[in-house]
Parts: sequence; structure tokens; C-alpha cells
Amino acid sequence: MSKKSFFVTTPIYYVNDVPHIGHSYTTIAADVLTRYHKLCGHDVFFLTGTDEHGIKIQQTAEKATKSPKEFCDEVAEKFKGAWRSLNIEYDNFIRTTDHHHEEAVKKVLQILYDKGYIYKGRYEALYCVGCEQFKTKSDLVEGKCPDHKIEPEERSEECYLFKLSAFQDRLYEQIKNDKFKILPLERKNEVLSFIENEGLQDISISREKAQVYWGVSLPFDPSHTTYVWVDAFLNYLTGLGWPEDKDSFAMFWPPTVQLMAKDILRVHATIWLAIVMALDIELPRMYFIHGYFTVNGQKMSKSLKNVIDPVALSEKYGADVIRYFILSEFPFGTDGNFSIKRLEESYNSDLANDFGNLIHRTIPMMNKYCNGVVLEPKEEDTIDEELKRIAEDSVSVLGELFDGLKFREILAEIWKIVKRANKYIDEAAPWILFKEENSGRLSTVMYNILESIRIITILVYPFMPETSQKIWEQLGMTEDLDSQRIPQDVVWGGLKVGTEIKKGVPLFPRIELNKENQSESLNCL
Ligand code: MSP
Repeated sequence: MSKKSFFVTTPIYYVNDVPHIGHSYTTIAADVLTRYHKLCGHDVFFLTGTDEHGIKIQQTAEKATKSPKEFCDEVAEKFKGAWRSLNIEYDNFIRTTDHHHEEAVKKVLQILYDKGYIYKGRYEALYCVGCEQFKTKSDLVEGKCPDHKIEPEERSEECYLFKLSAFQDRLYEQIKNDKFKILPLERKNEVLSFIENEGLQDISISREKAQVYWGVSLPFDPSHTTYVWVDAFLNYLTGLGWPEDKDSFAMFWPPTVQLMAKDILRVHATIWLAIVMALDIELPRMYFIHGYFTVNGQKMSKSLKNVIDPVALSEKYGADVIRYFILSEFPFGTDGNFSIKRLEESYNSDLANDFGNLIHRTIPMMNKYCNGVVLEPKEEDTIDEELKRIAEDSVSVLGELFDGLKFREILAEIWKIVKRANKYIDEAAPWILFKEENSGRLSTVMYNILESIRIITILVYPFMPETSQKIWEQLGMTEDLDSQRIPQDVVWGGLKVGTEIKKGVPLFPRIELNKENQSESLNCL
């Protein structure tokens, strides 16, 4: 039987901005999914990268008095650096200025042109450079783009158009019937009502080079460059090595889940899907639209100086703390507010008190009471049964929760085991058993505590790879943590008798809570 494959994508980020906590949110989620599916033994491909062409980048580079390429090189490195600091393990970081990508974009444009989906005409529309998107009148608030607070340009020019209108009915049908899934449900409905109310018009997909020189030339008319979104969407194909790498394409296409926020849902649900249909390849399986972050209640923006730098954040608190916090703080599909105060509170309660404490209590007890060696469990009773049942229940719902990208709920399930294990220690009181020289019961109790820690460590690995590795080493495990498999290695009883526990290292020392919200000190952007 062939292995299941899992292909996850993030949007490719514009290089006119440096990486911030919003980009990190999507990318961390993709990394957690990747690590989880690897633990399930699936073939996994995780694609991310940078979107480097178009008028917005051209103008930003000009303002910085740099050549666009030089400018893009610098910012792309910053994205890579941010992902390193957050422990992101992507399979490919694609840049739209990669030679292979540019050539493949030309190939697609030629195919679409030859099939008659691209034609020359005139286009009149409103365009917001901030979004690099066309706008309808109903999108505007008091005549301005609500996201960028600027009046869109009225464009009227000769250009090449893509026959988006030809795909309206098929698109509507596929989305409505969940043949192509958009989650959460309200986002699906939003797309359907847009198509119903506004309809899909053909769109301009080129600008004259005199206006936008920083882009991929149309192969059939080099005096035009292609619309940045068409170029950008194709990263999802070229990032797999398309068209040359046929094996990779056969193995991973179509994407299992494409992650993004609501800002770019409409373009993805119309133009990108229509291009896929026009190319006669399989549609992606699903989009998951996660929530949008505000910082202390406000939209992140350079002018408000509240843009949170993920590198500074992870230097201060550690990558795992950031990864845990942003996925546990609010449900993945809803908007949320980021604050350092909440991060520190959550750190102290969930990580220092619950998780860290469980490990810090257990390792010294093992060394003191059992000479650091896991002994054969001798007896069972109702307390043991409850701990075991909670662990088994959590493992049994995990797959479904991961399929629905319910990160917060997954962490809550894992924390049920953490909390129960802490309570079990209090109830079973190994220190009394030691004093009473009740060695039969003591070996059972210590086995149960360690077994729950072993299972927690595997389950938490996708979220907190660094911490779980440290715990794994303390547990004296000889196999690699990332070679563990879900579900077979999280079955109760997998801990081997005779395993030698190592000395503990501090994981989450409690931190002094900031009296005031000090997020400003982390705004280095
Ligand atoms: N370049 C396009 C995407 C092309 S994909 C073919 C683009 N880039 S972007 O840099 O603006 O990235 C937008 C995406 O970044 C969002 O959809 C989301 O994934 C992430 N986020 C950026 N800011 C965010 C928040 N404040 N909150 C949550 N996610 C955010 O659009």
C-alpha cells in the first residue's frame, strides 16, 4: 500500500514587509502540521517562500534606493532567518525571482494563451496597490480600501485578460458541494455570496513594462509583465519542481491544505482555482482560513510601531514558547489579540506550573527513589486506570482534531494528561510510598508517571520540538524522537523497564510578570 501524502502551503510573503508575528502564525501552523504528519509516517511536503515581483516591491525598492533584486535578496534572507529562529523546517523556500520559477510561469502563460484563456483587450477597474488586488465599489469604505486606507487607482489600459468568467459556474458548484473545501464554514459562505452577488469578470493579468518592469514577461508579448498574483499562485506548482520534477508532482499534488488569512481568500478562491482548472489538473483539497492578529487590540502597522518581531520574541522567550502560545491562545479560525502580558501569563500557568513542574518533580524522584531506573510496574488500581484512560482518550481524538486544524483543542487534550499526571503525583504520593518502603506500589506509580510523560512528549513534539527533545533525552530514550510513530508508539505501556533516566535540565523557569505591557520593547521592525 502506498504511503499517505500530505502537502501543506503557506502564502508566499511580500518582501516589502519584514517577517512579523502575523506571517509567523501561518508558518508555525504549517510546521506543526508537517511534524505531526511525519510522526504519522506520511510523506510530507511543506512549501513556503517569498513573493518578490510587482509594482509594490518595485516602488519599495526604489524608495530604498536599491535594485529590486538586491532589495529582495535582503528581505528573503530575513524571512529565512525568522523561520530558523522559530524552528521551522520547510521542504522548499521558493522565491518568485528563482530562475526555475520564472521559466515555469512563462510556460503556464503560454499554455493558457494557446488554450484561448488569455486574450488582448482593454480593462477598466479600481486597483489597490497595497493589496495588489482589484476592488469592486462595494469593497470600499468611504471610497477607500479598508485595509490600506487609500483610494484605489482607476485603471484603464490595454492589457491581456484572463477568462475568469468562464469558470464561474464550475467554481461555485465545487465550493458549494465541498468538492473543494473552504474552512471555517463562514469563509466558504463569504466566497459563495461574493460569486452570487458580484459574479466573476475577466481580469487583467498584465501591465505594460513601461509601468511595471519588475515582473515576468509574457512569453507571447514581452512588452508586458504578468500580474503579480498569477506569478505568485504558480509557486504552489513550481515549488514542487513542476514541470521538470514529475515524481514530486505525482507524489504530492494536489495540496492537502493551503493556509492563509481572510485578506487573500477571495483571490485564492477565484483566480488560483480557475488557473488550476484551466490547466486541467486536480484542485487543491482544502483552504483553511485562520484568524487575523491584532496587537494590543490594534491592527499591526509600522506607523503604530506595534509590529511584533518574531526573532526578538523567540530570543527572549524561546521558539517553543511562541509556538505554544500563538496556537493555544485562540481558536485557529478566529481573530485574536496578541499581547505580551497574555503570553507571560500563559507561560507561567501552562508551561512553568503545569508542564515544566511535571518534569521537574518527576526526574529527581526517579533518581532518589529508584536509582534512576524504570522498574517493573507491579500493581494496578483505580487511580492508575484513570491516568491511562485520559491518555488513551486524548490520543484517540487527535487525528480528527488535526484534520480540522483545531490546534487549541489539541493542546487542551494534551494538557488534560499533563494536569491529570500532576494530580496523580499528589494523590499517589511517591514520597510516602518511599518512606513506607512500599516498593511494589512505588515502582508502579513511578512507571505510570513516566509513561504519561513519554506519551505527552511525543504528542507535544510537533508544537514544541526543542523542549520535547530535551525531555526525551532526560527520559533516557534511545530511539530518535522524530522516529516515533502515532498511534503505535503512544499506546500505554510502551515505556521499557530498565530505561535509565538522566539528570534534569531546567525547562520553563517562572518569569516575573510584566506589570505593564512591554510589547514595545519587542517591536524592532
Ligand atoms: N504575497 C501575497 C500572497 C501570495 S500567495 C500566492 C500576500 N503576502 S502577505 O505578505 O501580505 O501575506 C499575507 C498572509 O500573511 C496572510 O494571508 C496570513 O497568512 C499572514 N498574515 C499577515 N499578517 C497577519 C496577521 N496580522 N494575522 C494573521 N495572519 C497574517 O498576501
